[in-house]
Amino acid sequence: MGIRYGDLGLVNTKKMFAAALRGGWAVPAYNFNNLEQLRAIVLGCLETRSPVILQVSSSARKYAGAPFVRHLAQAAVELAASHEAGPVPIALHLDHGATFVLAKECIDDGFSSVMIDGSALPFEENIALTKKVVDYAHPLDVTVEGELGVLAGVEDEVSHELSHYTDPEEAEEFVRLTGVDSLAISIGTSHGAYKFKPGQKPQLRLDILEDVAKRMPDLPVVLHGASSVPREYVEEINRLGGSLKEAIGIPEDQIRRAVSGAVCKVNIDSDGRLAFTAALRRSFTEEPGVFDPRKYLGAAMETVKALVMDKNTEVLGSSGRAQEVG
Ligand code: G3H
Ligand code: 13P
Ligand code: ZN
Repeated sequence: MGIRYGDLGLVNTKKMFAAALRGGWAVPAYNFNNLEQLRAIVLGCLETRSPVILQVSSSARKYAGAPFVRHLAQAAVELAASHEAGPVPIALHLDHGATFVLAKECIDDGFSSVMIDGSALPFEENIALTKKVVDYAHPLDVTVEGELGVLAGVEDEVSHELSHYTDPEEAEEFVRLTGVDSLAISIGTSHGAYKFKPGQKPQLRLDILEDVAKRMPDLPVVLHGASSVPREYVEEINRLGGSLKEAIGIPEDQIRRAVSGAVCKVNIDSDGRLAFTAALRRSFTEEPGVFDPRKYLGAAMETVKALVMDKNTEVLGSSGRAQEVG
């Protein structure tokens, strides 16, 4: 018998997604690897009164250590409970789980939601793997995200040169046969900071999203690779000695259009990394004599928190929605 997420004060994603689908907004899913990122995300969501999905990739879990991830998530719940305006709903989610064993391990370690990513597998194998995870997760009331279609870029240890857009007809069959609670689809986003080449016009296939939504009006759709790669962070990093040439993300207005439709969960990792890195470079440049990690990591935390607040308020529409999640 493992640890159950309810005992940690976490919630699954069901009610969050139902509220998001009703209201035409999306729940933010921010990746974290360490204490500073986690605190920044949670404080930003508490201040904007947004529900939040804290997500961890398998490499992030390896980096931080599984017990740290669990205890950090539990600490996040405690932090939320002590907030003057009250708590916000918090889910702990496995990002891009590649195997049944990993998904089970996370569920038994207190995760309230898992992604099983069989998108690189043949259709039938993706269905079989995803269904196996659903069959384990659902009796424990853990929600499951599947993926159909392939995003370009790096997904943990798997990397793809080219994307394959999701076929809406296949998506319908996939959801019916697996019973997933949400589905990540490929409509032109990609992972990392280099989503487009200079001169390319970033254009999401919102027609595919609309087709999926028409076929399955109650399905929460997930958008991976949704970082906008803000110019100000890229320029600051480059100005202060970094080298992130030609980093280009998804324009925010395209994310806004997607979340006003069926997209209920938006995954953001790269933007948090950029904000963190820009703040560190700024601190080291402006205060070269400082060697107290609390100073420069504190500055990084503030910068990530500001990013989170801006995303929730200006892009995802999740600010002020905590009380809508029953
Ligand atoms: O989709 C991938 C996430 O950005 C996680 O990346 O495996 O480097 O932690 P990571
Ligand atoms: P970005 O690299 O665009 O932040 O995407 C993150 C993601 O999809 C995590 O699963
Ligand atoms: Zn992803």
